[in-house]
Amino acid sequence: MDFPKGLLKVLLLQLLLQISTSLDTISFDHSIKDGDLLFSKNETFVLGFFSPGTSSNRYVGIWYKFSKDLVVWVANRDNPVNDTTGVLTISSEGNLVLARNNSLSLPLWSTSVSVSSSSNNTVAAQLLDSGNFVLVQENQNILWQSSDHPTNILLTSMKLGVDRKKGINRYITSWNSNNDPGTGNCSLRMEPNGSPQLILYKNEAKWWRSGQWNGIQWGGIPGMTKNNVFNISFVNNPDEISVRWKVLDPSIHSVIMVDGSGQIQQLVWQGPQHGWVAVWSAPMDACDSYAKCGPFGNCNPYTVSGFNCTCSPGYEPNSPEDWDIRDGSGGCKRQEGSISMCGNDEGFVRMDHVKVPDTSAIKLEMSLSLEACEEECLRNCSCLAYAVADVRNGGTGCMTWYGDLMDTKQFTEGGEALYVRADAIVSAQNTQKSGGESSANNKKLATILGVSISVTSFLIVAVLCWVRRRNKGRRGQPKLLQDIFSGSRSREDLPNEKDVDDQGKADLPVFDLSTIVEATGEFCSANMLGHGGFGIVYKGNLPDGQEIAVKRLSRNSGQGVEEFKNEVKLIAKLQHRNLVRLFGCCIDKEERMLIYEYMPNRSLDWIIFDKNGRSLLDWRKRFQIIIGIARGVLYLHQDSRLKIIHRDLKASNVLLDSSMNPKISDFGMARMFGDDQIEANTNRVVGTYGYMSPEYAMDGLYSTKSDVFSFGVLALEIICGKKNNFQFEDSSLNLVGQIWDLWIEGKALNMVDLSLGQSYPTDEAMRCIQIGLLCVQENAKDRPTMSEVVFMLGNETTVQSPKKAAFSFKSSAPDSSTSRGASSVNDVTVTVIEAR
Ligand SMILES: *[C@@H]1O[C@H](CO)[C@@H](O)[C@H](O)[C@H]1NC(C)=O
Repeated sequence: MDFPKGLLKVLLLQLLLQISTSLDTISFDHSIKDGDLLFSKNETFVLGFFSPGTSSNRYVGIWYKFSKDLVVWVANRDNPVNDTTGVLTISSEGNLVLARNNSLSLPLWSTSVSVSSSSNNTVAAQLLDSGNFVLVQENQNILWQSSDHPTNILLTSMKLGVDRKKGINRYITSWNSNNDPGTGNCSLRMEPNGSPQLILYKNEAKWWRSGQWNGIQWGGIPGMTKNNVFNISFVNNPDEISVRWKVLDPSIHSVIMVDGSGQIQQLVWQGPQHGWVAVWSAPMDACDSYAKCGPFGNCNPYTVSGFNCTCSPGYEPNSPEDWDIRDGSGGCKRQEGSISMCGNDEGFVRMDHVKVPDTSAIKLEMSLSLEACEEECLRNCSCLAYAVADVRNGGTGCMTWYGDLMDTKQFTEGGEALYVRADAIVSAQNTQKSGGESSANNKKLATILGVSISVTSFLIVAVLCWVRRRNKGRRGQPKLLQDIFSGSRSREDLPNEKDVDDQGKADLPVFDLSTIVEATGEFCSANMLGHGGFGIVYKGNLPDGQEIAVKRLSRNSGQGVEEFKNEVKLIAKLQHRNLVRLFGCCIDKEERMLIYEYMPNRSLDWIIFDKNGRSLLDWRKRFQIIIGIARGVLYLHQDSRLKIIHRDLKASNVLLDSSMNPKISDFGMARMFGDDQIEANTNRVVGTYGYMSPEYAMDGLYSTKSDVFSFGVLALEIICGKKNNFQFEDSSLNLVGQIWDLWIEGKALNMVDLSLGQSYPTDEAMRCIQIGLLCVQENAKDRPTMSEVVFMLGNETTVQSPKKAAFSFKSSAPDSSTSRGASSVNDVTVTVIEAR
């Protein structure tokens, strides 16, 4: 066994020489100075010194070679080097240390592992192709690795969670700011107690939770299911509880990131032009705020009233006064007059489609069935609720709750069943309700739901494969999202394209051209209602007397076909009282038309920008129109399966029915988004000046917040009865600029339409202006979401102060558009502007 010492030395030296000549390794004789870079073998990842944002401090970090701006790991996040003399080297103890060149004995950062019985020349640090930076001994024993110490980002190679063997808990923590990668306030951690869940903390308080792992997915994220692109691998055994987001296609680069505002995002690389695009983020809606409705409260994000809280069956608000002012955070208590729930014929009331309450303090017994679980809970009088732990195989395992039920959320579909203990009276009432006939109805409903879900997914596939056809032939570029969600499916899984088209038609009535020609009097100009985005709208009468609006798409508009298909498929699915209903379509050779319900009062612009029209709208009506539009947009943004951004919200796209209820029209430009995508980038800016958010007009960046901006402009126009005539540079001439100036002086009410006289509640008007100004804030992040807007409109809560509104796009505005002349640009949907 005894090697001659000399030979061993020679071998080692050779090995180390080999290592030290490769670019991916730091060894005792190869340090990294500020300015040097280390590349992983396949050159995906780079390690080196960097300065974040506008800071001049130096940090050692790892980033993708193609995207220097997203630093995925930082070594010395809390201890920057304040000059460029930093060196990353292997210390004499065999640790990786970062220090300034002239004070190597005072490391700013170190791996701090105890390397037993060895010295520095047997240890090296290597940057792997996975982005993991490892400190290894010559026997390949890993002493330390960066993936055990994540910063704010989880790479697909990293696990988040508890490793009991190593005694570590890996979690990600936000940066302090863009200029400071130091440990921030928000962190995403695995909660191993009870039934494991991911919890996002903000300032050490629970901020959002994923819900428990139910065997298939996180219970609180029903939309995040297994797909052909991403796969969540969850491990729960005595040694480890961890989760990893994997991508199945190695050419896709994706990360999970937590930011300082308390958002988690899954980002996917979309090439240098588009950058990192978020495909999922949390929290998403009001009910994602932890314990929004307090103990025993249930939070429903989709209520008409805008108030989200109800109490669990058998419970009532703790403080009805708070409840009245729409504050549910105090939660609920046992109903007044309820009887004992201990051996007194009590039972359980089933709540369906919920995110079950916080599971960190539950009792978990995986061996029990649902029936045994009920018995178990019934037996112990302090047990307040139960649910299955694993939804696979018809539901197994038993979770029982003993304390407050915290953070229950109501879904419209998906979610799990929770059984809440209730006294004999309450449980009898609820069994009656759900007995006999209604359970048959439930079955029927389930079938309908099932069908509608499969139709929806079918539509998604249909649109995706249509998008894919368009994108065919793009080579050597990162996969675009559409391709990602469709492309990795095998061909056999997809219905062939002919089927898709046939099905698409079958979903909604197709009218014969002859019927439409007759209904509109051969498109008689007397029947013309106006110009829509892509064509002329006519009034028509069907033989049965039904009045219709026919949108005839311009044949030579060049973009009609795509928008048409998009519109048909989307609108067919969307039904809301504040959206115009699509009756059907008509396709004949080049001719494409959409058949809508007819709106006798035409569009909002005819009324609010017209002196006589305006006088017909009192304050109450205007307020109802504003809130109706807000609800319609909210529905588009938050519809449970599709997330739709309108992109061309304006007065002429809001129609009014016979009772002056607003209905949003023209979804032609709406893009279908995956459930979880929040922002996308486009080359072609589509929209109307005056309503366009700066980030959209300037950079082609659109998100739900661009619609919020347009909504804000629209709301202000309705209040003031004036058009936001958009002029480049000269803010004093446009409505938003004027309101903002007066707002600063505290005189915003001067802008309220004079035709309202004194007959309006000044505080409500002031609040509406304030909400409008919040929506048109320059920075998209500052703008509220539509659900917040609906909430603020519907409740007399205090509304925060807006920051500066965006009312001029500096001189970097595209030249081609200025030359069109401001007056014509205002009215017409501007379609082709190349951003960047
Ligand atoms: C009921 O369950 C709780 C929580 O598991 C336990 O502490 C308590 O001892 C149980 N009580 C009875 C009577 O079994």
